[in-house]
Amino acid sequence: MPDAYILGIESSCDETGAAVVRSGQGVLSNIVASQIATHQPYGGVVPELASREHLRAIVPVVRQALADAGQTYQSVDAIAVTQGPGLAGALLVGISYAKALAFALEKPLIAVNHLEGHIHAVLLEQQRQSENGGLYFPVLDFPVLALVVSGGHTHLYLAQVQENLWTYRNIGHTRDDAAGEAFDKVGKLLGLGYPGGPIIDRLAPLGDPEAVKFQIAQIKHRDRRDHKLGDRTLGDHAQHRAEEDGPQFDFSYSGIKTAVLRYVETEKLKPAIEARRQALAGIETPTLEDIRGLSDRQLLNLVASFQRSMVDDLVVKTLTAARAYDVRTLFVSGGVAANRELRATFEREAGLEGLPVFFPSRALSTDNAAMIAAAAFPKFLRREFVAMDFCADAGMALR
Ligand code: KG4
Ligand code: ZN
Repeated sequence: MPDAYILGIESSCDETGAAVVRSGQGVLSNIVASQIATHQPYGGVVPELASREHLRAIVPVVRQALADAGQTYQSVDAIAVTQGPGLAGALLVGISYAKALAFALEKPLIAVNHLEGHIHAVLLEQQRQSENGGLYFPVLDFPVLALVVSGGHTHLYLAQVQENLWTYRNIGHTRDDAAGEAFDKVGKLLGLGYPGGPIIDRLAPLGDPEAVKFQIAQIKHRDRRDHKLGDRTLGDHAQHRAEEDGPQFDFSYSGIKTAVLRYVETEKLKPAIEARRQALAGIETPTLEDIRGLSDRQLLNLVASFQRSMVDDLVVKTLTAARAYDVRTLFVSGGVAANRELRATFEREAGLEGLPVFFPSRALSTDNAAMIAAAAFPKFLRREFVAMDFCADAGMALR
């Protein structure tokens, strides 16, 4: 089977991405225009500004991705675009442009769920093409449990594939803040700049992770497998579904953010935080050295303790779910999967249980379009194309 070249387009949040991927596993180009500088003064993504920045960036970013891949608009075989979840206005920019290209070039159009993209970022770098053109993952054993942990999501999915049809079952999600959101809010709260995740990642090794004790909410679930036949509290249908569904493993990260705030108040850290915020605002692009120079031991200990609590909670809950569902392989992806301590802890703890764990490279952990083009490839093989009237789905679920 000849190679298929897919142009991927991603615009769900604050990165405008375009990439060309060959047959789901060869990244020929991957361009990401980040809007961090635009949103930095606000300490978070401003949806209206994000849409405008996508509009500005989309044409040059796609042009650059094609040029870097040695491809042209005419030479690619299909166009893939993120349908959701994400910011509606931001998604519409990528979708409108992808539709215009597909229409003008008479190419098939493929709609991709952003979360499926994050999962396929793992496959993209691990799988190989077989002689008959299909893809195989040298050591992939099912069922796979995928933790997608980003600024918008902390979700656990059981993933299966049959004849290039990937299906997903959600067995856990955050009840409030996503893990990346907690990193970013704590970063903002401590006057460290935006986004907090990568900064905390770099500062944490400089502090003592045992210095401050944080408790993360443990969500109690009725283990739905415990329901016996004839349980009157559930209707027949609900009971059948519950037995089929198995237990749920949810997360909650808004409490730890409040706990950090309380610590800041009790320890009277506000003046130092405000001084740091102002000093950093005066530097055009603060480096890690700048931030480090403005951080004292107590701050470094606080950051290290926060990160340790987050990492431990993510790893413990994911491995508990892995055991409950007897999974054979673990994937960890999404922006927070770039975190060094999270990777090291997953590798160590999953290793102790003999469970293989895979991550995308750090560059492909955060939002990019190569993952969208990669997730589109099995759909391309199945000829799963969308009609020209398909629309953005800001709250799109992954199934
Ligand atoms: O996947 P992503 O680029 O966008 C979403 O889909 O949300 O994830 C962005 C999130 C942000 O919250 C950012 O702070 C976090 O991922 N992040 C990190 C690291 N790099 C990015 N969090 C912790 N450690 C990192 N190294
Ligand atoms: Zn993402």
